[in-house]
Amino acid sequence: MDDFKFFGRRKGRKIRKAKTSLLEQFLPQLEISTQQPISHNLFGVPVKKICLEIGFGGGEHLAGFSLLHPETGFIGAEVFQNGIANLLSLITGIKQNSEIVEKIKLLPDRVDNIRIYSDDVRKLFSQIPDGFVDQVFLLFPDPWPKNRHASRRFVNPDNIAELARIIKKDGTLLIATDHPVYKRWTLRQMHDCPDFIWTARTSNDWRNPPADWVETKYQLKALKEGRRPVFLEYKRI
Ligand SMILES: C[S@@+](CC[C@H](N)C(=O)[O-])C[C@H]1O[C@@H](n2cnc3c(N)ncnc32)[C@H](O)[C@@H]1O
Repeated sequence: MDDFKFFGRRKGRKIRKAKTSLLEQFLPQLEISTQQPISHNLFGVPVKKICLEIGFGGGEHLAGFSLLHPETGFIGAEVFQNGIANLLSLITGIKQNSEIVEKIKLLPDRVDNIRIYSDDVRKLFSQIPDGFVDQVFLLFPDPWPKNRHASRRFVNPDNIAELARIIKKDGTLLIATDHPVYKRWTLRQMHDCPDFIWTARTSNDWRNPPADWVETKYQLKALKEGRRPVFLEYKRI
């Protein structure tokens, strides 16, 4: 299915040699291919829960959170090649200027609990069974703040319906944003969906990230530039 129009960047700055070898040699070991059945057996270790991170960017949250939860299987989706290379660098310890090694491995403190979809997550949805996912993270999605670009926003009725289908009952969807337009938009879109309830009880619940949080690049950028992010958690009912 190739009929989704993607408006972001797929490639950025020139990727250095070490990162190229991560993409060429190591990514295929972790990559989810089109039509591959998605099940708990996807991972190199037994997993009890499944977490999906959409648009993981440089992979800071995915790398850090998956280290804290070795019994959870993580599916990360990202189209931006440099971001994927950065995630691979974080989980292998191979940096831009590292010597090229013949056999690339995960860092010794990690288990094999991450799989990567290196394309538009909307194409992956149809491969994911109903109620398969325990937790979804959508962190700092591109805000597309202009009205005329509203149809590009990831939070929209079609994607919310797919998320409602793949998230199991009592599973969660965490949407973080630092953009006031996207915050209002998300609150309204999610309010209109009867399959989710907003879990916040007090303002502290949406002003602060959950307990075992790992900061992302966009979160740090927002804080540095004086924008305070919000963390909107929804439960599938
Ligand atoms: C603003 S960045 C945020 C990155 C990261 N989550 C962070 O907080 O640092 C949004 C990311 O989502 C990715 N993205 C946007 N739409 C996507 C889609 N449909 N499937 C997969 N990735 C997507 C973009 O390539 C981009 O890297």
